[in-house]
Amino acid sequence: MTVSEALKQRLSANAFDPQAELSREQITELVQLATEAPTSFNTQNWHVIAITDPEIRKQIRAAAWDQAKVTDSAVLFAVLGNTNVVENLPEVMTMATNDGIVAPEIKDWFETNAAQFYKDKPELSRDEALRSASYLAMSLMLAGQEKGYGSGPMIGFDPKEVANILKVPQNYVVTLLLSMGPLLPEGNWKRKPRKKDILSFDAFS
Ligand SMILES: Cc1cc2nc3c(=O)[nH]c(=O)nc-3n(C[C@H](O)[C@H](O)[C@H](O)COP(=O)(O)O)c2cc1C
Repeated sequence: MTVSEALKQRLSANAFDPQAELSREQITELVQLATEAPTSFNTQNWHVIAITDPEIRKQIRAAAWDQAKVTDSAVLFAVLGNTNVVENLPEVMTMATNDGIVAPEIKDWFETNAAQFYKDKPELSRDEALRSASYLAMSLMLAGQEKGYGSGPMIGFDPKEVANILKVPQNYVVTLLLSMGPLLPEGNWKRKPRKKDILSFDAFS
């Protein structure tokens, strides 16, 4: 499957096969692929919770407009962004220097400048949490598409309640819930047409 095919075939699904299951290995592979997405300063300020426990799924469904896909999909992901944007940076840059990909002085440059860039900027930091989590979520949907799974992104949930159920630390934003897994043969909408006139060149018009 090409990227173009994956982009054109993906749709927001509602009817998931409730009997389908994904193993922890399959789920891990999908999330690992999704972490190939870029982040500002390589901060990798994201976290994913894969929710497979039916009891927890029921609780989340009650906090998510009773959407059936919350409980019916093979896996439900909560995609989180970290508003403490630079928290993971020393760890990930150390990985890069250990692999010989990044020189130590570049590591220092990234860490110093990223810290400065986000310091005392809560709005920008929250934006970055949402941006990073969104890139990861889209990558996850495309990775799933290649494996033949449908996906259903959701913002229809109470973020405080979901964060509470999943024991999410204060500095993380639950950016998206994402159902994923094999679909039922019937019950999903067809692709919706796309607006064509969203592109202008050189200035907004
Ligand atoms: C951020 C975001 C939040 C969404 N939230 C929901 C949701 O809570 N429930 C739902 O059924 N669909 C939700 N959707 C799916 C959209 O309705 C869907 O993407 C849109 O209608 C376009 O359809 P398509 O994804 O099949 O191309 C969401 C999509 C995005 C990107």
